[in-house]
Formats: sequence, C-alpha cells, structure tokens
Amino acid sequence: MPRVTVTRRLRFNAAHRVHNPALSDEENAAIFGKCNNPNWHGHNYILDVSVEGDIDERTGYVLDLSALKQLVERQIVDKVDHRNFNLDVDFMRGVIPTSENIIIAFWRLLVDRVSPARLTRLVLWETENNYVEYTGG
Ligand code: NI
Repeated sequence: MPRVTVTRRLRFNAAHRVHNPALSDEENAAIFGKCNNPNWHGHNYILDVSVEGDIDERTGYVLDLSALKQLVERQIVDKVDHRNFNLDVDFMRGVIPTSENIIIAFWRLLVDRVSPARLTRLVLWETENNYVEYTGG
C-alpha cells in the first residue's frame, strides 16, 4: 500500500519574551539578545503540519486537509493567535518560549488526534530565515 504524506500550512501571530528566570538579567541579555526584550516582541509564525497514511479508497485522501486545518485551529491556533506565549498560553506555562519548546508542545497537542493518519513532521517558522523541525522522539 503506498503511503503518502500530506501537509497543511497555518499561520498565526504571537508575542513572546525568551527569558530564563533562573538566570540573571545580564545572563539573559547575553544569551538571548533582542529576544530577551522585557516588553516582548512578536512574530508572524508559520506552522506546517504533515501527516502520513494510506490513501482512503472511498475519498482518495490520506486525511481531509480541511479537517486537519480545523483540528490544528482548535488545538493550537485558537490558543496562541494574537496571544503572548509567556502570559496567555496554558500549555507553555513554565517553559521558555523558544521555537524548539513551542514545537514540542504543539506535537503533544496533535499526535494522538490525527488517526487514522500518523503525525510525521512539524515545521515552525519563526522568521523567514529561522525554522525548527520536529518528527517525534
Ligand atoms: Ni522572538
């Protein structure tokens, strides 16, 4: 059976401050630079969600991409869009909101919800030059 990967892209805007409260202000400024700005800064994030699976004979789809879009909106975008990762997002509480930590949290919110397909890859673009990728594990 051929297995195919399908990807849906979603966009959201959010603010954050990359800051480790266990470190001094000087250490935070030295490590995180502008991303440590006390009064926050924002990004136009892009999230690519990929799932893999068999092609359903009845529909010709691996997974209906509009259903995948609705799932990602409900689980993630509705909770983070126009929000502040440090202050407003329950599932990021106590976590430094780097893209690395954000993508792991996103994975956990989706991995058990894409049946009968399988979540294989998330890509999170923080800027047009920087992105992180997670494939589980
Ligand atoms: Ni940033």
